[in-house]
Amino acid sequence: MKKYNVAVVGATGMVGRTFLKVLEELKLPVENYYLMASARSAGSKVEFMGKEYVIEELTESSFDKDIDIALFSAGGSTSEKFAPIAASKGVVVIDNSSAWRMDPEVPLVVPEVNPEDILENKGIIANPNCSTIQAMVAMKPLHDKYKIKRVVYSTYQAVSGAGLAGWQDLENGLKGEAPKKFPHPIANNCLPHIDVFLPNGYTKEEMKMVNETRKILHDDSIRITATTVRVPVFNSHSESINLEFEKQFDLDELKEVLKNAPGIVIQDDPENNVYPLAITAAGTNETYVGRIRRDESVESGVNLWVVADNIRKGAAANAVQIAQKLIAYWENN
Ligand code: A2P
Repeated sequence: MKKYNVAVVGATGMVGRTFLKVLEELKLPVENYYLMASARSAGSKVEFMGKEYVIEELTESSFDKDIDIALFSAGGSTSEKFAPIAASKGVVVIDNSSAWRMDPEVPLVVPEVNPEDILENKGIIANPNCSTIQAMVAMKPLHDKYKIKRVVYSTYQAVSGAGLAGWQDLENGLKGEAPKKFPHPIANNCLPHIDVFLPNGYTKEEMKMVNETRKILHDDSIRITATTVRVPVFNSHSESINLEFEKQFDLDELKEVLKNAPGIVIQDDPENNVYPLAITAAGTNETYVGRIRRDESVESGVNLWVVADNIRKGAAANAVQIAQKLIAYWENN
């Protein structure tokens, strides 16, 4: 098997460091790694794969070397500028920012859901929003079987989704300090406000869930509404997902469909208090589904509780899994 060269851009950040952990765990066939960040951390050293790596500054000539894949998580403006530069030099960029997600030329991929879209890439593949990824893992098998016609998302999102600054706001807030990242205290609070507000009254996070769901499922007819909420949890997003189907379903069969779908762990034994929890999802790459019950207010609908580690499945693990699939496609062609 050929060995590939992989760059990690934003290697010192919260997602970037998790890229490194997941790369160590999933063991891709890689010859050389290049770890990049801004001038601020250039020259600093990182332990990775049992070796010491020196962080390089990301510049316009960073991709002049022989690099096959670049995993980017260094913010939207860095991706906007540097992803096309990398792509023009033959690198396939897997980008964790929102910069390219809705570009019609850029596939938006969850490997369990639409891996074949990877083949459409023209040098950039986008990693969806963290809240969208875990929802897609749970919804795709149900969409295939029963055709989803309407979705109501309500999210309970961890502070790690807002980076180190979000994490510190909760940590310091629990000690009584004022917030620096969020507009209100997050300790002992819920903020119905993630990303900026848009003219339609929704937040950008809510509209990302709406638009990305339609793009990933290749179905613009699905009606979707979302309320996204930041909660005082350090890690893992929890989501209530209400689905309405076109077709009728049998609840036991629907549970079997979910059980047999890739990437899902069912935790659904309410009598024994078993349901997905943020603290058990944290540190894993799976999507946990439970509280599976019929929505008795409609003809054919179901409620799900879906939990996943937002930094792993919602970002780093999903991106590394895309790289794994990309390499598998290259190997088979
Ligand atoms: P650095 O540590 O040098 O600032 P987070 O999402 O946790 O804030 O991390 C952002 C990541 O993106 C960090 O690795 C950061 O590097 C990197 N980054 C931010 N701006 C740039 C830039 N202009 N060029 C390269 N990397 C950047």
